[in-house]
Amino acid sequence: MSENKTALIVGATGLTGGYCLRNLLKDDHYERVTALTRSPIPHKNPKLHTIQIDFDRLSNEADLFDAHDVFCCLGTTIAKAGSRAAFRKVDFSYPLAIAEKALAAGAHSFSLISSMGANHNSRIFYNRVKGEIESAISKLGYNLVLIYRPSLLTGSRSEVRFGENIGEILMGLINPVLIGSLKKYRPIPAETVALTMTNQVNVESTGRHIFESDIIVKLSLGTKP
Ligand SMILES: NC(=O)c1ccc[n+]([C@@H]2O[C@H](COP(=O)([O-])OP(=O)(O)OC[C@H]3O[C@@H](n4cnc5c(N)ncnc54)[C@H](OP(=O)(O)O)[C@@H]3O)[C@@H](O)[C@H]2O)c1
Repeated sequence: MSENKTALIVGATGLTGGYCLRNLLKDDHYERVTALTRSPIPHKNPKLHTIQIDFDRLSNEADLFDAHDVFCCLGTTIAKAGSRAAFRKVDFSYPLAIAEKALAAGAHSFSLISSMGANHNSRIFYNRVKGEIESAISKLGYNLVLIYRPSLLTGSRSEVRFGENIGEILMGLINPVLIGSLKKYRPIPAETVALTMTNQVNVESTGRHIFESDIIVKLSLGTKP
């Protein structure tokens, strides 16, 4: 099945990005996976080319961004970034800059992890930034844009995220009543999001596709939405 494609991933040191990277390294569609990171990636793999970069000073070297499929798993929280401006840089400016450079280098697809509630008109800052990056990427001219809108992500993290931990406990309690159209509010394993991301890019060929959390789960199970 090998298609000798190249994948470019940003955010590979994160929870979802880590799963995404593992999938890409196992995937015979790809002969090379480039991970642009600010922190080192501990594991080695002959397909993996890790390049540590400063996201504030992205080089114009086309080689760095040379890929068929781009996967963006970058993200932070306002609390972690320290300010709204710093959050926006990671969740808007960096993904957009990567998308522009990869497109200029000839990329075919861009897969973006956005968030449930993303809306560029939202009064909630986080949702607005996520909506803005969705719109900006969609306008660039990629042949294929895949946008994932997960609900609360679950999985094991080395850091403690108080708000998300509380959210996970609360959502766990109300999970049984989240049925029908409310299913998209159920917390979702980061591994499930990554599985759908790395599968779906080889299912769709053109256009813009937005996947809400409940659909991401269905696709991960191989069920038609
Ligand atoms: N957490 C949730 O419940 C949730 C819900 C809905 C949507 N999302 C979205 O889903 C995506 C993935 O979330 P996640 O929780 O899997 O991510 P994560 O574990 O927090 O990982 C974030 C990634 O972004 C990188 N990053 C953060 N700040 C950076 C900076 N200033 N410069 C360069 N790289 C930076 C991190 O690199 P380092 O390892 O170097 O820090 C890491 O690779 C994000 O876009 C997030 O907004 C999350």
